[in-house]
Amino acid sequence: MTFLFNSDAKRGAIFAEAFARELPDIAFSMDPKSVEAEAVRYLITWTLPDDLARYRNLEILFSIGAGIDQFRIDAVPTWVKVVRMVEDGIIRMMQEYVTLSVLALHRDLPTYLDQQRRRTWQAVAPVQASNRRIGVLGLGMLGTAVLERLLPFGFPLSGWSRSPREIDGIRCLSGRDGLDTLLDTTDILVCLLPLTDETRGFLNAGLFARMPAGAALVHAGRGAQLDHRALVAALDAGHLSGAVIDVTEPEPLPADHAFWSHPKILLTPHIASVTQAETAAAAVIGNIKRYQAGLDPIGLIDRSRGY
Ligand code: NDP
Ligand code: OXD
Repeated sequence: MTFLFNSDAKRGAIFAEAFARELPDIAFSMDPKSVEAEAVRYLITWTLPDDLARYRNLEILFSIGAGIDQFRIDAVPTWVKVVRMVEDGIIRMMQEYVTLSVLALHRDLPTYLDQQRRRTWQAVAPVQASNRRIGVLGLGMLGTAVLERLLPFGFPLSGWSRSPREIDGIRCLSGRDGLDTLLDTTDILVCLLPLTDETRGFLNAGLFARMPAGAALVHAGRGAQLDHRALVAALDAGHLSGAVIDVTEPEPLPADHAFWSHPKILLTPHIASVTQAETAAAAVIGNIKRYQAGLDPIGLIDRSRGY
């Protein structure tokens, strides 16, 4: 029985050591060329290998990241379980990134960076945290964790999900009506939705128009959820005041794309959160042990929902 690691060698070495210690009965390979394909029961990868069909005894396909939208899931045999990465390192990094971004927008950092470039010394009237309403799209592993991390700052916090949730100290909304309420009452909107048929193009002109004038956006979900032109139009019209963007479609952006130089946009190259090898290896090993004990792995994808 083999675990095939199809990602960078540096993280692979850390996985190999953890597997040798924790699951010595499972052979560990980082070499798809030399592996005996029929022995591969577990595969971890970011994108699907073209020759996936070779692994005809595959039982679990692990994503090395939190998302699975990069897999063409219809190409994965229905009996194979697809599992996203649920690990502490990803959570911690996303908490840092969203806190950084929310505080940057709350304290008018895009304006001050622009003013610095123009040698302008001019204060913007500060808004108290208690008057800055934060709304998070997605109340899963990451949305919930970032809201919990934002709690001590004193922002009024809300989150939105498909199904109803309850989280201490957070106003939880769901469904279409819940989205209307969230958008009406959000000054900084954070997108942490998975990319599915329902969320593709979700951050569009219609959605921006439903937000209060002067609102801002943090986008760390997936690039294809954002209509780039609509964002630039809303910023240029002054309806939105700023945006922190970590994910785009395509990645990287072409050299002449408006986001590179827009004074109201802070752009980062899809680094909000990165899988950390030590904690990820522990999470995957834990999941294989759960599976061997007859339990569902944590992060198992529901194919009907697409996430
Ligand atoms: P989860 O699956 O744990 O949570 C997804 C949340 O989104 C759930 O609350 C779910 O609702 C909600 N949701 C999904 N579809 C809809 C919908 N149509 N309407 C309303 N709510 C919806 O995902 P994670 O929190 O682990 O990750 C979220 C995404 O973050 C990833 O899929 C990935 O795209 C992105 N990501 C980005 C990274 C980066 O570096 N920029 C790094 C890691 C992840 P419900 O609770 O009802 O199921
Ligand atoms: C992920 C990502 O999904 O890096 O983990 O975006």
